[in-house]
Amino acid sequence: MQDLAPIGVYDSGVGGLSVLRAIGQTLPREHLLYVADSAHVPYGEKTPEYVRQRALAIADYLVSRQAKAMVVACNTATAAAIAALRARHPGLVIIGVEPAIKPAAHLTRSGVVGVFATTGTLASAKFAALVQREAPEIRILFRPCPEWVLQVERGDIHGAAAARVAQEPVRELLAQGADTLVLGCTHFPFLHDAIQAAAGPAVPLLETGGPVARRLRHQLQQHGRLAAAGAGAVELLTTGDAARLGRMAALLLDLPAAAAQVPADWC
Ligand code: DGL
Repeated sequence: MQDLAPIGVYDSGVGGLSVLRAIGQTLPREHLLYVADSAHVPYGEKTPEYVRQRALAIADYLVSRQAKAMVVACNTATAAAIAALRARHPGLVIIGVEPAIKPAAHLTRSGVVGVFATTGTLASAKFAALVQREAPEIRILFRPCPEWVLQVERGDIHGAAAARVAQEPVRELLAQGADTLVLGCTHFPFLHDAIQAAAGPAVPLLETGGPVARRLRHQLQQHGRLAAAGAGAVELLTTGDAARLGRMAALLLDLPAAAAQVPADWC
């Protein structure tokens, strides 16, 4: 079966582009509709209710565009809103992202895992349940890194400033015995090189773009909704500055797609 309806991929800003990249590689024939809620970034320090309302508004927009699936490419929004999204749109394939606690628990030899994420993710009941379920025997160290979100939003990911901002949080968690680090925010893969340099080459950094893309493919397959013969396309939308999103996509993904604004009556 052939289904050319778009797949919505959404984040507070440009972080979800790390997930979009993985989806594009796994499902190259799909029409991907990326929404950056840049007028409201960052989500990490806002209340769960605020983040939930944003997620619901964006889901309504995606449904108005006949999306066949929605990927919440944001750990913070997944923690705050995935249940509300599923309740509001029971017919939609909805995939969220969660920090890679399960693979980290398998990989660690020291029994100590470090997790970088937003304050909202780390404070959520969903995260507590994930740790309890997947890593009850492991010591999990948390470090909120709102400064990393802002660093990526500025597009300053390769220089001395990125190296500097990565240093302290990594040093803190390694000093407490962590031998495996989880990048529990979709912005952080864009700082991968700076974080790896701070951690040293032997420390695994775990992210979730690949597994999310495979879960999406599996679910679309089960619903008979894959675009088996589409040409593939990426459409970039934002609640903020469209030209800026276009520049960021070129910088972060080498993706020369034009960006536009989400119609004002929607978000
Ligand atoms: N990229 C988001 C996440 O995965 C949120 C970053 C933010 O807006 O604070 O949690």
